[in-house]
Amino acid sequence: MKIAFVGKGGSGKTTLSALFIRHLAAAGSPVIAVDADINQHLGPALGLTDEQAAALPSLGSHLPQIKEHLRGTNPLIRSAEEMIKTTPPGRGSRLLRIVEENPVYAACARPIALDEGSVRLLATGAFTEEDLGVACYHSKVGAVELLLNHLVDGPEEYFVTDMTAGSDSFASGLFTRFDLTFLVAEPTRKGVSVYRQYKEYAQDFGVRLRVVGNKVQGPDDLAFLRREVGDDLLTTFGHSDWVRRLERGDEPALRTLEPANRTVLEQLKAEADAAHRMRDPRRYTEQAVHFHLRNAESWGNAKIGIDLATQVDADFVLGAQQAEAAGV
Ligand SMILES: Nc1ncnc2c1ncn2[C@@H]1O[C@H](COP(=O)(O)OP(=O)(O)O)[C@@H](O)[C@H]1O
Ligand SMILES: [Mg+2]
Repeated sequence: MKIAFVGKGGSGKTTLSALFIRHLAAAGSPVIAVDADINQHLGPALGLTDEQAAALPSLGSHLPQIKEHLRGTNPLIRSAEEMIKTTPPGRGSRLLRIVEENPVYAACARPIALDEGSVRLLATGAFTEEDLGVACYHSKVGAVELLLNHLVDGPEEYFVTDMTAGSDSFASGLFTRFDLTFLVAEPTRKGVSVYRQYKEYAQDFGVRLRVVGNKVQGPDDLAFLRREVGDDLLTTFGHSDWVRRLERGDEPALRTLEPANRTVLEQLKAEADAAHRMRDPRRYTEQAVHFHLRNAESWGNAKIGIDLATQVDADFVLGAQQAEAAGV
């Protein structure tokens, strides 16, 4: 399952994604946690010290190795240098699985032991000015898009990304690479305006978007979100003393989270599991190709100096065999 948490800075993306990750890990599910936010805070939110977090390898600085691995023996991709962040997999490409050892995880993933269970963490690395500008090829989140486009994941396996809702992900297609996107929104006009903007991009691509209200304190907050977001509102997480304790440097056990908020985590899991059952491998691959062609035309062909459309393997569908086996 490929899941993203997006929203305005400060809305609680990192807090809720870390809690969701801990909730999944506590149930024994395999989880890859991905920090793709401008502010790299997921490591500390999962209990790493600042020094440990600073020492995390970055996906951004391992792009050549990642590309070399994923390319495999795909004859349409002649070298890692010719691979851009949207280059789709084809026959011969190496696909990734959540539960396996591979050179990408060996170089970039770090295990994190939690109070219940454990996960592997990948981090894009801190963003620079360049990453946020118009120069698409600098994008750190490009590594995440490549991983998602090559990942074959089954039910009860989770790839959870703490992500920026920025122009980067809209330009590249990253925002379409998830089974489900949780938009975290505080009950404020700003929180809701980020939702509207996201929704506008998302609806043309059939992106499954659900709003998770956060720091909701009472009926007025709830009524506001219901009114502004309508049926897209999945659930709301309350203002939490447990989270405040975490902020003060305590290490509260997951099982001491307020029961109402723990129920919210269960709702998120149920929604994610349902989204996985509804996925359409063919459409997923078609969209990868769509964004690849768009990026090729807008900057990729000029940058690499070849026609990147030749990288598309028209007969390939990511996860098609898996879907067949499951009778989809
Ligand atoms: N439900 C909550 N109750 C209390 N404090 C919260 C809650 N959610 C988030 N916070 C606090 O709000 C701040 C921003 O949260 P964070 O998860 O870092 O946001 P983001 O990742 O979206 O920038 C943090 O100080 C966090 O502890
Ligand atoms: Mg954050």
